[in-house]
Amino acid sequence: MKEDFLKYQAQTTPHPLGLQISHAKGSYIYDQEGMAHLDFVAGVSACSLGHCHPKVVEAVRTQSEKYMHVMVYGEYVQQPAVDYTKLLASHLPKNLETTYLVNSGTEAIEGAIKLARRFTGRTQIISAHKAYHGNTMGSLSLMGYEERKSAFRPLIPDISFIQFNEPKDLGKITEKTAAVVLETIQGGAGFIMPQNDYLYKVRKRCNEVGALLILDEIQPGFGRTGKLFSFEHFNCVPDILVIGKGMAAGLPVGAFVSSKKIMDSLQESPKLGHITTFGGNPVIAAASLATLKEITESQLIEQTLQKEKLFRSRLVHPLINEIRGKGLMLALVLKNKEIANYLVLTAAKQRLILFWLLFEPKAVRISPPLTISEEEIVEGCDQIISILDAFKPTAVN
Ligand SMILES: Cc1ncc(COP(=O)(O)O)c(C=O)c1O
Repeated sequence: MKEDFLKYQAQTTPHPLGLQISHAKGSYIYDQEGMAHLDFVAGVSACSLGHCHPKVVEAVRTQSEKYMHVMVYGEYVQQPAVDYTKLLASHLPKNLETTYLVNSGTEAIEGAIKLARRFTGRTQIISAHKAYHGNTMGSLSLMGYEERKSAFRPLIPDISFIQFNEPKDLGKITEKTAAVVLETIQGGAGFIMPQNDYLYKVRKRCNEVGALLILDEIQPGFGRTGKLFSFEHFNCVPDILVIGKGMAAGLPVGAFVSSKKIMDSLQESPKLGHITTFGGNPVIAAASLATLKEITESQLIEQTLQKEKLFRSRLVHPLINEIRGKGLMLALVLKNKEIANYLVLTAAKQRLILFWLLFEPKAVRISPPLTISEEEIVEGCDQIISILDAFKPTAVN
């Protein structure tokens, strides 16, 4: 299977991890030999309820037996998408009442940029250095990391950058700015938290100049940081909220959410301001609905903060400089990138799944399913500590 994988399926690195999957359940992925791998990554924060959560599987099964796809986005009234968007609105501040469902995080970012330009009639979009918002051309234009995007230029024009957490840069947000797009917690940069009321200050500046604030909650959203959405920690409500990843517990989805007034500007001049064949797909919407109900009706969100404490108390080691992030979105920052690589690769051999962060080579991500048990956390952390104990600089490669 691996040979065919390398030959027929497109690759994005010369050295894929290449684990050969049989099935997955709860916090474990099983390989073709039937060995269990403890998953501390959760499909890069997407498997919010672990693998194959029974309520999500049941929702998918029930809906796919009724109908799977009937019409492009927004033409027909379909119960799963209506129920989902209504329930989501009940958990959000009043201005975030209307949801546009799409197929991925990056498409949701594209939709949010278009909406901001269309609504304000302005063109400038401001993003942050070391930001990651996805990989299509618009999202890539917002990426604050030249090395990963220069090969794809020219990208979309009129994008400017500010330093995340730097109040001095707020003056760059002006009457020309359509929107400021920020990750609520910077992910690829190494799980950088906003400091000193930074998001509140950005919100205030946007209000002063009439720019929209777009918050990308694709990674921290859906309970991962101890609130349903992480902006709830920071006294700052966006004009457009962008979500995805953990939203459907492992199925492809994204959405952007705004006020009806702002969202309605996609209906005219031109009409069909954003269209997409599979956005709002009923099977995915049913999975999203089951996921949101499970996250909000269980104790998972509160437990996230207890689980964070457990991780922090167990992951103490001279080779770990600090642990960044919040809840179950944690970055182990090691002494150097050699140790980070050694940890991810050695853990993989020992059937513990860890992964890198995009722009911070010293960091290793820990973003397990919200459903992970305390025993599983202890098991994985003990493994990490013993791997670090065994580290010798020459052990690399
Ligand atoms: C903060 C953030 N924004 C956007 C995206 C893009 O989402 P997707 O990969 O679903 O297009 C990601 C994915 O990693 C992300 O972490």
